[in-house]
This record gives sequence, structure tokens and C-alpha cells, in this order.
Amino acid sequence: MFEHLHRHWHDRQFRNITDLFESDPNRASEFSVTAADLYLDYSKTDIDRTARHLLLDLCSVTNLSDQISLMFSGDAINCTENRPALHPALRNLNGTPLYVNGTNVMPDVLRTLKFMEQFTAKVRENEWSDSREPIKDVVNIGIGGSDLGPAMATAALAPYHDGPKCHFVSNIDGAHISDTLKNLDPISTLLIVSSKTFSTIETMINARTARDWLLQGGGNPARQMVGITSSPDRAAAFGIDASLIFYFSEWVGGRYSLWGPTGLPIMLAIGHDAFRTFLNGAHDIDVHISSTSGHKNLPVMMALVSLWHSQICGYSTRAILPYDQRLSLLPSYLQQLEMESNGKGVQKNGCNLTHPACPIVWGAAGTNGQHAFYQLIHQGLQIVPCEFMVAAQAHEPDLTHHHNWLIAHCLAQSEALMRGRDVNETRQLIEHDFDGAELERQTRHRMFNGNRPSVTLLYPKLTPRILGQIIALYEYRVFIEGAILGINSFDQWGVELGKVLASNLYSIVAAPESSERTTGSTRALLDIIREKRAK
Ligand code: F6P
Repeated sequence: MFEHLHRHWHDRQFRNITDLFESDPNRASEFSVTAADLYLDYSKTDIDRTARHLLLDLCSVTNLSDQISLMFSGDAINCTENRPALHPALRNLNGTPLYVNGTNVMPDVLRTLKFMEQFTAKVRENEWSDSREPIKDVVNIGIGGSDLGPAMATAALAPYHDGPKCHFVSNIDGAHISDTLKNLDPISTLLIVSSKTFSTIETMINARTARDWLLQGGGNPARQMVGITSSPDRAAAFGIDASLIFYFSEWVGGRYSLWGPTGLPIMLAIGHDAFRTFLNGAHDIDVHISSTSGHKNLPVMMALVSLWHSQICGYSTRAILPYDQRLSLLPSYLQQLEMESNGKGVQKNGCNLTHPACPIVWGAAGTNGQHAFYQLIHQGLQIVPCEFMVAAQAHEPDLTHHHNWLIAHCLAQSEALMRGRDVNETRQLIEHDFDGAELERQTRHRMFNGNRPSVTLLYPKLTPRILGQIIALYEYRVFIEGAILGINSFDQWGVELGKVLASNLYSIVAAPESSERTTGSTRALLDIIREKRAK
């Protein structure tokens, strides 16, 4: 499938991104694309017109538009679990019918949204909790998709917070729940137990600890514990009051679930009107993806740029670099979204992939990353395609100079990665300080090869609507890459084996005398732990 692209990559005329700009004065506008309020510049990559043409061919060869239609028509595109992946229904506020097995799911979706809104209004208007103590804090207990999305979005929308303060506990490490609860009042805290399966061990253990804390502090679990799940029976068996169970369907994948009840903490923090705006932002991209073709389709182009880097150029990682402090959790969120979705070795038809499908996703908010890992990005031998993100406008009108600096840094980095600084320029810069062999040695340390690819995603301001657009964009990028590579992006079998082994090991850790059942290295580690505990 990639032969033509590989051939083009080897034979291409211009090998430097800067030469591409020289050969095409319109490159910046030609190699950029907009969707709703988002603008993606991919001109600072070495994709030329032929490469783009060949990349777009992949969409027709793999029937991409049909695959997108299957998603919206509620087909069981998650073929190993025999389920649709219809999360766009959760942001389809106009109620246009969407079907699963012949049933229009929209009435249920909108009913659940209403239920969330009524509950949220009561909490925010101080009409919740027995004692009539207003709810001041909300603790969301969940992990993976039941944590990363709502935690990231809640942090991103801080300027819109006018409700209770939301906290997120995910790790089974007792430090997490203990540090979170220690400053909270059990009388004025609402606990949200968020788990699609309501069986994830981390969440269940944390939820029990939190319930004990609530009870011991005089709180009322029947009013102060809500459940968010696709398994309402398990939530009820856990003891969540039936009237406080927010249900979402099996066809919503955990890492795609923040648009529905999993997004309750976001709604509590920003209110239901702003939450609806957030959903509408995502819907902007749903409309864009289904109504825009070819190189004008932003998620398609973003996916193709990614495939170019991972499948053709062979770059194995991708750095996510939001120059937006409030998006500092975005890299972690995208790690799950991308690596749990496309970190697969087998295609839908059971055939083995011959090349890694998903880059390793990592990153940090700018400018902090500049003082940590950018050294490697600029001069290390690995090429790391970078994804810069920045808002034209900040939320702090009296700190415009901060934002001007932020933008300057963001643009400077992509420019530096592309241009580099050659030997002659570098030598000239330092020839007053050094000479002879020392000048040559110093020059080698201070020069930059450049020609390193990046894309920049620009948006007007990090509002609820634009955050919705950004997240939906990334969801589609993942789906499109998976669809072109023939992967099921909606299952995650790779996380199962470790869970099974942890369950077996728990009884050995808790009762070390039975350690004979473990193997060499693990047994040795357990012995040392036992020894250290005994001291
Ligand atoms: O890590 C595996 C996983 O199944 C994720 O896909 C999911 O988001 C997370 O665990 C939490 O699952 P649940 O919401 O069922 O507790």
C-alpha cells in the first residue's frame, strides 16, 4: 500500500523543508487547512504536492469515507468486541437520529444529558446533600478513560469554573487518595465513582476507601456518591443509590466517553450551558469530517501527516507540545487515546502488521519542555515530529506580554527546528571568542542540522467550544490512522495480561508465604520486599 510513497520519499527532488518553501511561495497557505475554529499548518514538514497526492490516495484505497460512514451508522466497527463506536451521538445535540441495531439512540442520549443537567444544577445551586451543606468539592474516582479525559478538560477550562472544585483520583497508590482527601470535608464532598465496567480494581479499591472516609466523617453515601457506568447492576451492588447512577451505553468506548456522563465533573465545574458549548464544539468537527473531502479535511490531513512520519519516514515518536499551560494534561490524555487505540500488532482481519502502527506519544506544555527535553529534539539523532499548539488569545487581558512571549517561543521553536543553523553561520557567531581547532570544535557543538518536521495547531482562544473541537480532532486522527492501517482502534486487549498477573500476585504480596508460585526474578523481588518490610 505504501510502495509509491516509499519510492517518492527516496526519489524526491527537495530534501530540505526550507527548499520546499523556496520552490513554492504559497507553501504556507497551500499546506495548511482549517476546520471550524482550528487552523493546522503542516508546511514545516517535507510533504510536497506529490506526497500529499499519494497520501490522499490511501484514503480511497482503504475506502476511508465508507469506514467513517460505518461509524455514524452504528455498525459494529469495534469488531473484536462486536460493538459500534458511536460516541459522536453524545454530542449530537440537535437529536438527528442515529441508530444502533435499528433503534434510534438519541432519545436516551438526550435524556441522560438532561439528567446530568438537573443533578448538576442542584449541586451548583447548593440544593444537594442532606445537611444542606453546599457541595464544595467533587472527587472523581476513575482511571484511564474514566479519568484522563475529564481531568484534562476540567483543567483546560479553568477560567470557566464557577462550581465546586473538582479533584481526580486514579492511582491505586494510597498516596493519591490520601493526599486528595486529607484536606476535604466529608460533609461537603461529592464522590463520583466513574468506571465503564465498574470492576476496575484501582477504582473499586479507591471507591471503598473514599466511602469509608465519607462514613467516618459523617457524610451520607446515599446522597454523596454517584456512579457513572455501563454496568448499572455492579454500581448498585457496590451500594450506589439507583437514582444516582448515570448510565452510558456499551457502544461508548472508555477513552471516548467524556462527552457523556463521564464528563460530569466537567459539567459540575463549568455548568451545563458551557458543557453544551463544549459538546457543540466537538460536533463542529463531526460535521466537518463527514462533509469535507480531500486535503480540506483537517483530521484527514493530520492523520496523513502522521502516517507519512511514522510509516514512510520511519520516525517512531511524536511530541505533543501545547503552548497552553491549561493543556498540560493533554499529552497524558493523548497517550491513552492514541497508544491504547492504535498500539496494535494485528489488523482487523487477524494479519500481523509489519511496521509499528502508532508512534510513541509524549510531550509537555511549552515553555517548560524547552528546559527539559528540547535539547534532544534539536540536536539528538532521533527525529521527533513535533506538534505545537497555541492560542491567538489568552484569558489574562492584563498579562498580554506573557502571551506574546509564549507565542514567540512557540513559533521560534518550529522555525529553529526547520531552519537549524549551519556550520558557517555558527562559526561566524563565535569566531570572536575562539580560534583554530577550538573554534571548529565549539562550532560542532553549537550548530543545528535543522530540517526537523513540525505541525502547528492554532486556535483563537481555549474556550469550551474550541476545546471540544480540539479533542474531537484528535479522536478522528486516531480513527483515520487506524482505519487506513486496517486496525480496530476501539479495543485494548494489550492491557489484560498485566491485570490478570497482578490479581494473582496480590495474594502472594499480601500473604508472602505462598510465593513458591512465582518465577525467579519476581520471587527474588518479593523476597527482598519481605525482608525490607520485616525490618
Ligand atoms: O486500561 C484499560 C481500561 O480498560 C481503559 O480502556 C479504560 O479507560 C480503563 O481501563 C478504565 O476502565 P473502566 O472505566 O471500566 O474502569
